[in-house]
Amino acid sequence: MIALNLHQRIASQVRYCTAKNGSPFVIRTADPADSQEIEQNIMAICAEQEYLHTDTFVRTSEWEALLAQSIDLQRRQILLVAVADESVIGHARLFPLWFGSKGRHVADLGIAILKPWRDIGIGTAMLGYLLEWAVRLDYLKASVEVIATNQRAISLFRKFGFVEEGRRLNHIRINDTYVDEILMGLDLNQKHLLLFQAQERFFYLMGRYKTCHRLS
Ligand SMILES: CC(C)(COP(=O)(O)OP(=O)(O)OC[C@H]1O[C@@H](n2cnc3c(N)ncnc32)[C@H](O)[C@@H]1OP(=O)(O)O)[C@@H](O)C(=O)NCCC(=O)NCCS
Repeated sequence: MIALNLHQRIASQVRYCTAKNGSPFVIRTADPADSQEIEQNIMAICAEQEYLHTDTFVRTSEWEALLAQSIDLQRRQILLVAVADESVIGHARLFPLWFGSKGRHVADLGIAILKPWRDIGIGTAMLGYLLEWAVRLDYLKASVEVIATNQRAISLFRKFGFVEEGRRLNHIRINDTYVDEILMGLDLNQKHLLLFQAQERFFYLMGRYKTCHRLS
């Protein structure tokens, strides 16, 4: 039997899932070969104007590092992709809010699914997996900034126990309208871990969302 090191074992973790409409998809860590598709997807979602804070994909140093190495245990960051029909249809990422000591307990999250693949449970599956990773990487809190008109995202985060921690009034301009930004946070203590494990089981039992099989 070939012994895998920790990094190889983590990188080989793939989750095989079925969406609410019966479509199969997988969630896995991103590969550098996915970079172009991830960038194109982000640009397509930016072009919708309604959901993301930026107008286009910006290759920040954090993104450079994530695209080059999708799991970095030392920097405590991870980039997951959802793949269906051999295409990347969504991604979810986390990295420390700040790389210094003051914010290293907080995981800053981002998630985006291409338009045709929304509302069929893919975001739920990805966020569940990402939050498991946040706990494994010893984060104590998860944090996300959501545009107040993005009801679907707010509903998704609330489903996992995120609460509204603050609101920046008229913070974002979308098509000449000023919209609030909502700061949402999730306390990642053991109680919440148990809660979202229980939620996964609940969705599975209710048959609303066929949860994913772990192969490793
Ligand atoms: C937000 C996003 C990640 C959610 O992923 P998704 O795969 O569409 O979400 P899911 O299907 O798993 O769950 C969406 C939930 O929102 C609910 N929902 C959808 N539209 C809603 C609305 N207008 N109001 C309230 N809830 C809504 C759905 O009913 C579903 O909840 P349920 O599973 O309890 O029925 C995805 O839609 C997306 O990428 N949007 C564009 C980019 C974005 O907004 N990213 C987040 C930025 S913070």
